[in-house]
Amino acid sequence: MMPAMGRIFVTRALPFDALGRLAAEHELDVWEGDLPPGPASLRERLAGADGLLSLVTDPVDADLLAACPDLKAIANMAVGTDNIDLEAAAERGIPVGNTPDVLTDATADLAFALLLALARRIPEGAAQVREGRWRTWEPAADLGADLSGATLGIVGRGRIGEAVARRGEGFGMEVVHSSRSSGVPLEELLERSDFVSLHTPFTPETRHLIGAAELARMKGTALLINTSRGGVVDQDALRQALIDGEIAGAALDVTDPEPLPADHPLLEAPNLLVVPHVGSATVRTRARMAEMAVENLLAALADRPMPYPA
Ligand code: DGY
Repeated sequence: MMPAMGRIFVTRALPFDALGRLAAEHELDVWEGDLPPGPASLRERLAGADGLLSLVTDPVDADLLAACPDLKAIANMAVGTDNIDLEAAAERGIPVGNTPDVLTDATADLAFALLLALARRIPEGAAQVREGRWRTWEPAADLGADLSGATLGIVGRGRIGEAVARRGEGFGMEVVHSSRSSGVPLEELLERSDFVSLHTPFTPETRHLIGAAELARMKGTALLINTSRGGVVDQDALRQALIDGEIAGAALDVTDPEPLPADHPLLEAPNLLVVPHVGSATVRTRARMAEMAVENLLAALADRPMPYPA
């Protein structure tokens, strides 16, 4: 028997084929704005909905869930689920799905792109050329850091951390890692590494995992890369460490908040590269993430287990 048609609130237009499969079985209510719905709009549109297809930009907390008693399933189009109160959802018996694995390589590639960009000073070089400031080949100008023989410290050893480690090995780096259950202590990793790349989930324990004390342990020549969540780094401490030259540079795909306002003090810091949360932003990866979110909703609304439960 075909499951009864439900109403699904989709928090942003998703121009991917997978949405057609969802629309064939359910009524879709797609948020029309090109910015995420604010809390009041989210609450209003989710009231009476059976399913939610959410993004990392949509906070789903206990209050919102309490206001939506008909909600039967949440599919987050992301591997991270820190925007969702998983406990509150579990208490209400609402399954939550995510999109693991599929974005591992894309995110690891981006971490490495940031690492290389910092190591070889690509943003500065590109700006010199574009602004007509590059005068000639110079023996000792624009010198960067070598990757081969350098130590890459990976904080968190999940799928993405592993994928970054493989890339590091391919570049001839010595790779060390630190996680809750394995590797070297974080302090040791920070002291030894020439590059530190963050790959922890964002939880109360990892909030500001990298603060003033941790930055002070890093080498003055070290570079920090964050493609996990902005809140893992204490941004005030990072700003100060960059200004004081305590570390040599940082590249962030994620910040707190997102986006940072253009006049945010962090953006005044030297040797800082910030990109707009594009870890999973490849054509193939985003299309597959949409498919997985759709598969999660189709299963849950047909009373089957989600194929990708969070
Ligand atoms: C995720 O999936 O958690 C990313 O941050 C967004 O792709």
